Amino acid sequence: MDSLRIGVPSKGRLAELAAELLKDAGLHFRRQERSLFARCKELPVDITFLRTEDIPVLCAEGAIDMGITGSDLIAESQAEVERRLDLGVGQCKLSICVPDDAPYTSPKQLAGKRIATSFPNNTAAYLRQHGATAHLVNLNGSVESMIALGVADAIVDLVETGSTLAANRLKILTDIGSYQTVLIQNGRKRMTETADRVVRRLEGVVIARAYSLLEYNVPRAKLAEAESITPGFRSPTVSALEDPSWCAVRAMVKRSEVIQIMEKLEALGAGAILETEIKNCRL
Ligand code: PRP
Repeated sequence: MDSLRIGVPSKGRLAELAAELLKDAGLHFRRQERSLFARCKELPVDITFLRTEDIPVLCAEGAIDMGITGSDLIAESQAEVERRLDLGVGQCKLSICVPDDAPYTSPKQLAGKRIATSFPNNTAAYLRQHGATAHLVNLNGSVESMIALGVADAIVDLVETGSTLAANRLKILTDIGSYQTVLIQNGRKRMTETADRVVRRLEGVVIARAYSLLEYNVPRAKLAEAESITPGFRSPTVSALEDPSWCAVRAMVKRSEVIQIMEKLEALGAGAILETEIKNCRL
């Protein structure tokens, strides 16, 4: 039977994130040790384990139909793929970084200096746009050590928590771009129905992870104000309570805003405010 081929990172931090997302979306597979392929149980989907940085090109070339990779790597490879879904994980920035005590305040001051990076295309494009020039030292990894090794005056690298920079006594001079983990597809659009099902399933998980369900009771006289605080995804559910001067409200709220929203509702006079995590959803 024909199957949809999805490329996922074989190692590194994205490997775990991608496997968890697929599992939560009901795409279960078991990877035999060192094996490059795994078949999903539920749908005609074959998982191919690849280097994260090769996934954009291999998708564009049709070796895989879809892939999970970083949007930074799509930009760097300039591969022609369609970005189907932002997966809400792996957020990072690509930044020009210099030693903590360096006097630079602008990338233009890097004229004639050496910049070590694994992102030469993104870096060159940024320097061009900002009228700056520098000598690029292209590397595949361990870029953060290159200033200490005397190979470079600055680096362009991914920054997530900033701990790698701190450990190497580096600071950000400027950010070049913001990226995250994404689901991509190529223009051949093989097995469209299965591909769209995968997108919908992953979308359900991504939204569920980003939202919580908030339930509370509020005086009916304050309902309009409460609804403006929790407008919900489309519209909140309002139910009657035994006491006609009160009502119960149920609405989805962004998980990152839950605490502030609860405080606002409490200040408004709402009570019995409960947050429930959503595991999966279809909206
Ligand atoms: C990336 C990047 C930095 C680090 C930044 O490396 O190259 O070294 O993460 O993350 P932080 O700000 O949270 O410290 P990654 O772990 O992806 O592996 P790599 O060295 O193979 O690029």
